[in-house]
Amino acid sequence: MSLPFRVGLGEDSHRLSAGRPLVLAGVALPDAPAGAVAHSDGDAVLHAVADAILAALAAGDIGRLYPDTAPENAGLDSRVIVKRVLDLALERGWRPAQASLVVTLDRPKLGPRRDELQASLAGLLGLEPDRVGLGFKTSEGLAPEHVQVRAVVLLEAADVSPGAGAPGSPELDWRG
Ligand code: C5P
Ligand code: MG
Repeated sequence: MSLPFRVGLGEDSHRLSAGRPLVLAGVALPDAPAGAVAHSDGDAVLHAVADAILAALAAGDIGRLYPDTAPENAGLDSRVIVKRVLDLALERGWRPAQASLVVTLDRPKLGPRRDELQASLAGLLGLEPDRVGLGFKTSEGLAPEHVQVRAVVLLEAADVSPGAGAPGSPELDWRG
């Protein structure tokens, strides 16, 4: 008998540059001194989570779905990426059960916005916020121009009823 769970690990890093917006877990952080240099919106939390889901499915990584060389992916809203991998998971009979993340970032302090980031990520994954653990670390000044996120996502077996869709509002639909 196979276990009704699958676990995946994802990671993402971006270089930070002054004057660029910083978006994490779908939340804009306007007080950030620097934002991600990226082809998409550079949301390292959502990229790490999407890769964790794909890893749990043994389905490769987001570079396979969204090459960072493709012009149509420029400025891509990373919530769309998450929606797409959730739909893929559901097609295969899996949905998120829990997520655990560590964000390494020197500035700004994210602790004051933990609840907001947690609620945003939980909403995107269709989970209650108490199923989403978010830890924050500095690099101790070793990498001040760097954001790094490590994510573990646990998937549980889902009843796949015909027409069932993964969580996420319709405007995030990736089918175009
Ligand atoms: O990296 P360090 O362990 O020194 O971080 C101390 C605390 O600062 C963390 O436990 C976390 O609560 C908080 N922190 C934060 N936002 C960051 C980095 C760390 O709130 N960007
Ligand atoms: Mg990324």
